[in-house]
Amino acid sequence: MNQANQTYLFRTANRIVAGRHSLGRVGEHLPMSGTFRSALIFTGSSMVRLGYIDELKQALDRRGIFAEVTTGIDNEPTVDHLEEWNRKISGGGFDLFIGVGGGSILDAVKILSVLQTNGKSIREMIGTNLVEKPGIPTVLVPTTSGTGSEVTPNAIVTFPEEELKLAVVSDYLLPLLTVIDPVLTLSLPRQITAATGMDAFTHSFESYISNKANPFSNLFAIESMKLIARSIVRSYEDGASLDAREDMLLGSMYGGLALTASGTAAVHALAYPLGGKFHIAHGVANAMLLPHVTRVNMDSIFHRMPEIAAAIGLNTSSLSAERAAELVMEQIFAWTQTLSIPQNLAEYGVGEKDLDGLTEAALKVKRLLDNNPKVLGFEDIKGIYRKLL
Ligand SMILES: NC(=O)c1ccc[n+]([C@@H]2O[C@H](COP(=O)([O-])OP(=O)(O)OC[C@H]3O[C@@H](n4cnc5c(N)ncnc54)[C@H](O)[C@@H]3O)[C@@H](O)[C@H]2O)c1
Ligand SMILES: [Fe+2]
Repeated sequence: MNQANQTYLFRTANRIVAGRHSLGRVGEHLPMSGTFRSALIFTGSSMVRLGYIDELKQALDRRGIFAEVTTGIDNEPTVDHLEEWNRKISGGGFDLFIGVGGGSILDAVKILSVLQTNGKSIREMIGTNLVEKPGIPTVLVPTTSGTGSEVTPNAIVTFPEEELKLAVVSDYLLPLLTVIDPVLTLSLPRQITAATGMDAFTHSFESYISNKANPFSNLFAIESMKLIARSIVRSYEDGASLDAREDMLLGSMYGGLALTASGTAAVHALAYPLGGKFHIAHGVANAMLLPHVTRVNMDSIFHRMPEIAAAIGLNTSSLSAERAAELVMEQIFAWTQTLSIPQNLAEYGVGEKDLDGLTEAALKVKRLLDNNPKVLGFEDIKGIYRKLL
């Protein structure tokens, strides 16, 4: 927990509009002071097919903004893929970038926005505060309830040669406008709903137990865990439930606000090598790891479990903190079962021989391991990966 003399900061998107069908009203919510003429929309083919992009173009047109649409950003994009996109869109004269998609598209738009204006390569911007100038203003519209990228100053890039995923962290990545429209998430397939939902829960859970937790992050983390616990199973079992989808999307955004104010920890540190080396989707990697990392952390975090138990709807008021912690653990395990989260790394080609390499790679994610309430050494981390074989 933060010390009494520590300061804590809250920063996020310039504006956030939320509500069903808010995408169709984007023009009204862009700041009136901005004179935008030409937007480039990055999205996936399903959003085009479902008609949402036409709706968005009409909304922009009413504000006098002409928009071009482009699809083809890869899932969990690599550094070379993004540099190539940067060359492709250079000279297009766009004054607004809009991302309508999951974390992959939102992160790509954030990176492309600053690549266009900084004259630096992605490699030169990896790290914290290494972006020097504002990018092209962005509008970020999430279509998964997972990353919270729409409100965070982070963007994740895959480096295939190093078998790593690394982050650009800069306030210049924060968007001009975030649009939280749950209707866009109705088409999310079940398994992506489950994995991205658990990623969002992990953001809030880790922000709450992080060494950097503070009153700002706690506020959003608790509300986020409440919304997600209430609706994760329903959104998985009944994807057409707009009420459940709305809880999940708000919960996911609150998770992004919580992690920006605080920080994620060992679950995310161990997840990145699984993505970088074995291409396991980010949400799946986090969902697999959460119960096992939590078990190892438990003796350092059990005193915070009664509040988490209450947030996720468990009645533990008459129980000890240790017993509340057990029940939280059981609930997390139960979700991995109900949501059919894979629990075996062997399915992804990971074997005992890979554990040293994975562990070394995880130890390099010091930025996040430093937030973990318990110091995890080589053997601790290797032991967690081994649990998943
Ligand atoms: N910037 C951050 O703060 C942050 C935080 C966590 C993760 N990330 C990064 O975000 C990326 C993962 O993002 P993600 O988990 O949102 O997944 P994703 O963006 O990779 O999308 C997963 C799949 O879902 C599909 N999809 C997305 N929305 C859909 C919809 N509404 N209907 C149907 N299909 C849809 C996509 O086309 C894709 O195939 C990773 O690169 C991860 O490292 C970023
Ligand atoms: Fe995440």
